Amino acid sequence: MKKNVLLVDDEKSFIESLSVGLEDERLSLLQANTGLQAIAVMERNNIDLVVTDLKMPDMGGYELVAYLARNHPQIPVVVMSAYATLETEENFKILGVSSFVQKPLELDDLKQKMLAALDEADRTRGGSSDEIKLIHKKNIQLLANLVETRDPYTAGHQRRTAELSMKIAEQMTISPDKIQGLYMAALIHDIGKIAVPSEILTKPGRLTPIEFELIKNHPETAYDILKPIDFPWPVATIVRQHHERLDGSGYPLGIAGDEILLESAILTVSDVVEAMATNRPYRFARTIELTLEEITDHRGTYYLPEAVDACVSLFADGEFITQFTNANWAS
Ligand SMILES: [Fe+2]
Ligand SMILES: [Fe+2]
Repeated sequence: MKKNVLLVDDEKSFIESLSVGLEDERLSLLQANTGLQAIAVMERNNIDLVVTDLKMPDMGGYELVAYLARNHPQIPVVVMSAYATLETEENFKILGVSSFVQKPLELDDLKQKMLAALDEADRTRGGSSDEIKLIHKKNIQLLANLVETRDPYTAGHQRRTAELSMKIAEQMTISPDKIQGLYMAALIHDIGKIAVPSEILTKPGRLTPIEFELIKNHPETAYDILKPIDFPWPVATIVRQHHERLDGSGYPLGIAGDEILLESAILTVSDVVEAMATNRPYRFARTIELTLEEITDHRGTYYLPEAVDACVSLFADGEFITQFTNANWAS
């Protein structure tokens, strides 16, 4: 699997030529021009290595390295600088920076250091990545069980949404690793509702605007809960974005189009379909046809066209309807 490398430098032309020079089938290169931009890219992507300049506007390389040491200590960092002295190098080593390269750059030297930093990160993570994933799957199951004890409805909804998300993603021929991450995130996508009083969650009839606002906090609450955990997939971000819409009319961030993670865009579709097609405390299940009408009516405006098409075709071939209306799906 390719490693995602984030290159951070405020000189656009430099970073463009660096991307070309570093091209390699083992690496997928992403770019950011400032420290803040780098953080935004990291929120949407699973980054394996950061290569950063030191002097940049807004958030400089030093602040970025400090941020990474605090929030993503598992991500290795390579610093490029024309100014690094032995002393700054020592300080950076304390913050966990893997290595330095002097500017002007020797491309081969940089690439070697990048690959070494990636290898070292794989080694220190300990265990094979399969073992790590198994541990994370167990952690997610634990969180899902926690939801179940308080709110069996949401737990069932999450399970069915995860199942449907996986089927949609399979139809879209997405990589197995991404599908695994999507499935895991979907299993706990409404975990933020543990902060919502259960009277509101189970209230029959319409919610007041204040109650609705409380419910709307759940993706952000979930993000705060999940962010500190170093999942091998971008679980916290997938969950945070599951109520965003393609046209930017969703919440909590109001982001649009490509800003939304692919996994989140799929989860949004399966979440809506599951919620509409099964019983809620406040209304009876709508038929599958009406549910599919909702997603096709908003195909491309709210919902990712490829995910809508995949979902519609899943239900069209009938097999999935049986599963969907089967007792296994009821909880
Ligand atoms: Fe939700
Ligand atoms: Fe949901």
